[in-house]
Amino acid sequence: MDYEKKLEELGVKAVRAYDRFDDGLTVAAKKLRRLAMSVKDDVRAVRERDPAARSDAEVLLLYPGFHALMAYRVSHALHEKEHYFAARAVSQAARCVTGIEIHPGATIGTGLVIDHGMGVVIGETAEIGDNCTLYQGVTLGGTGKDVGKRHPTLGDNVLVGSGAKVLGPFKIGSGAKIASNAVVLEEIPENATAVGIPAKVVRRKGQRVNDLDQIHIPDPVAARMQQLESRLAELEAELEKLKNNDNETDGK
Ligand SMILES: CC(C)(COP(=O)(O)OP(=O)(O)OC[C@H]1O[C@@H](n2cnc3c(N)ncnc32)[C@H](O)[C@@H]1OP(=O)(O)O)[C@@H](O)C(=O)NCCC(=O)NCCS
Repeated sequence: MDYEKKLEELGVKAVRAYDRFDDGLTVAAKKLRRLAMSVKDDVRAVRERDPAARSDAEVLLLYPGFHALMAYRVSHALHEKEHYFAARAVSQAARCVTGIEIHPGATIGTGLVIDHGMGVVIGETAEIGDNCTLYQGVTLGGTGKDVGKRHPTLGDNVLVGSGAKVLGPFKIGSGAKIASNAVVLEEIPENATAVGIPAKVVRRKGQRVNDLDQIHIPDPVAARMQQLESRLAELEAELEKLKNNDNETDGK
């Protein structure tokens, strides 16, 4: 009798263990599927935006930007599970191999392309939307003055040119382009192009932006008056010179 009861208990335990194993497998399969999809998206993004990428195999094996992104996906998952040391270790190992430093705490959407990559730094509180492109030497960093959120937030489809520095916890609107070597210190609106140090918006939706603002509008009447005044001064000086010459000739 005891034997039968024990057998029944064992059977129930076995069924429960199997259910747990099955649930675990389902979760793992879902996670693997999600990972495979994001790898596929990342490869597709490089193929779409880098004309030099000739095959998926080339991207998978030979693109440091892609490798850094894969390492980030692992380090970010560890960071989310609060395994901070392991997360940082993965991120630093990837930095040694690729020259690209992505903090595990950064939030990165799908389809990011880091082209060439060497010298790219992405800070802990940086956020990057979908389908963005960063070239070599880009810093998404802080100014050192902020606490908490210290790094920029990029919308979708943002391009940041080589050597550009985006410093501070502000937004770069979706579709914006940051020119190479620009230093961006304030928010950039959607679909704008910003160039220079400090960066200024020079195009909005492809249209040239007039440098004027609503406060410092030049007064054309005042400008004309100034021109007339300086012309009058020149004429007066010339008249004075002629008078002096006449006096000298009369004296002789
Ligand atoms: C800014 C950029 C994205 C072009 O954007 P765009 O919206 O098409 O802008 P335009 O080319 O019309 O240029 C707008 C103005 O900014 C100027 N400009 C463009 N890039 C600039 C730069 N890096 N620094 C300073 N001025 C720049 C242009 O001369 C133009 O000036 P204008 O208004 O006097 O005519 C592009 O010039 C760039 O910097 N891309 C980065 C690419 C890169 O990093 N490549 C590295 C590959 S290894």
